[in-house]
Amino acid sequence: MSVEAKTRRVSVTQVAARKSGEKLVCLTAYTAPVARLLDEAVDLLLVGDSLAMVIYGQDSTLGVSLDTMIAHGAAVVRATRHALIVVDLPFGSYQASPADAFHAAARVLRETGCGAVKLEGGEEMAETAHFLVRRGIPVMGHTGLMPQAVNALGGYRSRGHAAEERDRIMRDSIAIAEAGAFSLVVEGVAESLARDITAKIAIPTIGIGGSPACDGQILVTDDMLGVFGDFTPKFVRRYRELAGEIGAAAREYADDVRAGRFPAPEHTYTRSPR
Ligand code: KIV
Repeated sequence: MSVEAKTRRVSVTQVAARKSGEKLVCLTAYTAPVARLLDEAVDLLLVGDSLAMVIYGQDSTLGVSLDTMIAHGAAVVRATRHALIVVDLPFGSYQASPADAFHAAARVLRETGCGAVKLEGGEEMAETAHFLVRRGIPVMGHTGLMPQAVNALGGYRSRGHAAEERDRIMRDSIAIAEAGAFSLVVEGVAESLARDITAKIAIPTIGIGGSPACDGQILVTDDMLGVFGDFTPKFVRRYRELAGEIGAAAREYADDVRAGRFPAPEHTYTRSPR
């Protein structure tokens, strides 16, 4: 990519400067064609480890490897020109030590060309976040409901309703902000807590199930497009119903093939008579 094309992208400093300003608009993207369609409409695209569930049909985000994240991250960077691209560090690639995190994050930045990495965790990850930031790796944090900790947290219920949990999530969010993160995803928390975190920390909060109090919003793109027919989390608005559309298109195609209506002459290569 040319220098000129690269400088048109939203930067981490531009995102950080949107604290209390115009709302930040973020979505997930995992593939080149979808990233290309979303690019101009948003400020930030997250290559989330939710791709383990959305793309690979796994039942949690834990099973995705660093190589897989890098492959999807590189595809999304190649397909886009405008949005800041952030790639999730997958489970197991960064928790053991700051040095592990640096090696994983450096591979992600070098091999995808993305602008930043995201990691989950609070006080226990603050030293690691600081270590990365001091070495030139922009970090987005993620507190509240942390899907990589689903086994320890005991499920995907919303967080921060009881005082003790609320205080811990507040401390976690402050610790990650003070470690130098440029923004913080706040997932699945009570509205009053999202509001208090947003008021307390100096970096933008990006809510997913975090209420309108946050400085920006992110959704899993497949959720907001209604690609899944069965389950919609409370915090998702379905802007389209693609599950029905895709099923209907497949049935029409099947009917046409079986009835001999497809391919039609305009879809068929014919040799002109000599
Ligand atoms: O992996 C992901 O898609 C995420 C978003 C839910 C914020 O972390």
